[in-house]
Parts: sequence; C-alpha cells; structure tokens
Amino acid sequence: MDVAIFSAKPHDRLFLAAANEGRHELAFIEARLSEETVRFAGGATCICAFVNDQVTAPVIGDLAAAGTKLIALRSAGFNHVDLAAAAAAGLTVGRVPAYSPHAVAEHAVALILTLNRNTHRAFNRVREGNFALEGLLGFDLCGKTVGVVGTGLIGRTFAGIMLGFGCRVIASDPFPSEECTAMGVTYVPFDRLLAEADIISLQCPLTPETHHLIDDDAIARMKRGAMIVNTSRGAVVDASAVIRGLKSGMIGALGLDVYEEEANLFFEDLSQKPIQDDVFARLLTFPNVVITGHQAFFTREALTGIARTTIDNITAFEDTGRVLHPVLPPVA
Ligand code: NAI
Repeated sequence: MDVAIFSAKPHDRLFLAAANEGRHELAFIEARLSEETVRFAGGATCICAFVNDQVTAPVIGDLAAAGTKLIALRSAGFNHVDLAAAAAAGLTVGRVPAYSPHAVAEHAVALILTLNRNTHRAFNRVREGNFALEGLLGFDLCGKTVGVVGTGLIGRTFAGIMLGFGCRVIASDPFPSEECTAMGVTYVPFDRLLAEADIISLQCPLTPETHHLIDDDAIARMKRGAMIVNTSRGAVVDASAVIRGLKSGMIGALGLDVYEEEANLFFEDLSQKPIQDDVFARLLTFPNVVITGHQAFFTREALTGIARTTIDNITAFEDTGRVLHPVLPPVA
C-alpha cells in the first residue's frame, strides 16, 4: 500500500523502514499535516499521522476526495483526529494502543526525581564550580503519597514503580483496575486525590471531561506545595492556572512533557528564534519547573513497538479491509 507519512523525523524513517521490510511504499513527508499540507499526501491510500498533525474535518474531506482510505496513527492518543468526520467520509482510523508503557511511566519518574532532587540545577552549578547545596533540598519519596490520575497501561506501570519507591499510591479513574488494587493502589475520588497527594501524575487521555482537569479550582483544592507531573496531553492542564499556582506556592514543582499549545513549538529546533508563546516563556522562568518536549515515548523499545504496530495496522487493512486497532467515532 502507498503510505504518506507526515511529521516524519529521522527516527521515523529508521524505525518504520525497519518494521516495513519493504512491504509497503513509504513516502516520508517532513511537514505537519494541516489544511495547507494535506495536498502532499498525493492521494496515498494511507496517511500516517503523529500527535501534532491536524486531522481535522477539512483535512479529512480533502484526503477522502483524493482517495485516501486509511489514517494510521503512530500514537496511542487520538484527540487530534475528528473521528466523526472520518467515519462520515468512510475513512478507517487505526492507532497504536500499547507500546512500551515503561517509556512514558519512566519519564514521569525522571521528571519527579529531577524536580525533587534539583538535578537540573545541580548540573549547571557543578559545571560552574558552584558546589553549594542551598536551594537543592529534596525529600524522601519513601512514605509520600502519589496520586495517579488515570490507571490505564501507563498509569499502572507508573504506580508500580512508585510503590517500589515505598510510596503510598492513590488513584482516580472512572474504570478502576483490579490489577492496580491488587498491587496496593487505593482508588479515591478525584477531590480526595487532590487533597492528599504530595505528587500528582496525570496519565489520563485528553477528553472533554479531562480538558483543563487541573485548573484554578483543582489547584486550590490541592495540598499546598504538591508537585504536578503531566505526561498525558497538554490540555489536561490549564497552563495559565498553573502559573498562578506556582506564583502562590500552591504548586511546589511542575514537570511537563506536554503543553496545550505544543504544536507550534515541539519537535522543532527553534533555538535561533524568539519564543512567541508568552505563557510557555513564563513557565520556563520558574526554577521549580522542568519541561521536556513530548519525549516521554522516545525510547528504542517504544519506537520499535510503534513502528511494528503501525505497519501491522496497514498490512491488516490491505489484507482484510480492517485495522488491528481501530479508533471508533464517539457514540452520538
Ligand atoms: P489507556 O487508555 O491505557 O489508559 C487511560 C486511562 O485513563 C483509562 O484507565 C481511563 O479509564 C482513564 N481515564 C479516562 N478518563 C479519566 C478521567 N476523567 N479521570 C481519570 N482517569 C481517566 O492509555 P495509556 O496508554 O495509559 O495512555 C494514557 C495517555 O498518555 C494517552 O491517552 C496519551 O494521551 C498519553 N501518552 C503520552 C505520551 C507521551 O509521549 N508523553 C505517549 C503515550 C501516551
């Protein structure tokens, strides 16, 4: 099948070509998919999209008109796809529901450890010959309460790691997992999680219900000085509200791998350009904020898994007219 791969980076070429083993004709397109770039698909039967591609209704309309039949997402999240428009246009959408959950869970832990022990600041200090410890004081994770919002594949993996640190792990999820309960996780209402957690880790998908889940109101109900870590989707957090929370001290530390307006920033080298996003620029000024550019998934194991499942979805669609992991439109 001919496949047009948008937002293609060198690692996409490497891992997708390896998984493909010559079966499909892969065309790598560096541009992000949008109304302006959709023409680059050139009528490919399949387009392959990543998290910041804009798979909107107009884009889907253009794809369908040009003959595209399949949208193969190389991500777990699908909040960037207009599923109703895809269904109406007769396009199948496939995704990669599971690939190394360790990649994202371990990255969330990396953010926690960095923020807690201030290794981001210590790194710079030591290089400048400053060995003073003032300002680097952390706390023992052992015995602290960690609140996990969303205990799917990644949240469960994350909870297991934090239990290993000797933390008390509480969680909120509309669909509690027996596996989690058996591990020793206690499910609590979201409000109680906010009130009791020393560290809050967001591992839920972006949905209308989770949009700005962490807003001024939620921050006001948190334990003063708690840490928030978001490796899920940017818009789960209201960035302006967390700035207010950081300024007031309600938020003690913030780790972000995702940002609501990341599409215009992440995955590109913008080091020679001024940052146009003032909210993002303000976030960068706090010493107790660590931001990574949506890299939680970025391990060899995860990229291998993503590439394999993406190719398997495309192959299954070619062979049977169905993908292995469909994304269905919401029930009206
Ligand atoms: P999953 O589908 O296995 O689990 C999601 C869990 O969130 C489910 O248990 C679901 O019931 C729960 N949930 C839904 N609404 C909720 C709510 N209002 N409150 C609390 N929990 C809620 O998904 P998985 O694989 O664990 O991934 C989670 C999210 O992580 C993805 O949707 C994606 O947005 C994000 N992600 C981020 C990556 C990164 O590189 N930063 C990479 C991969 C995923």
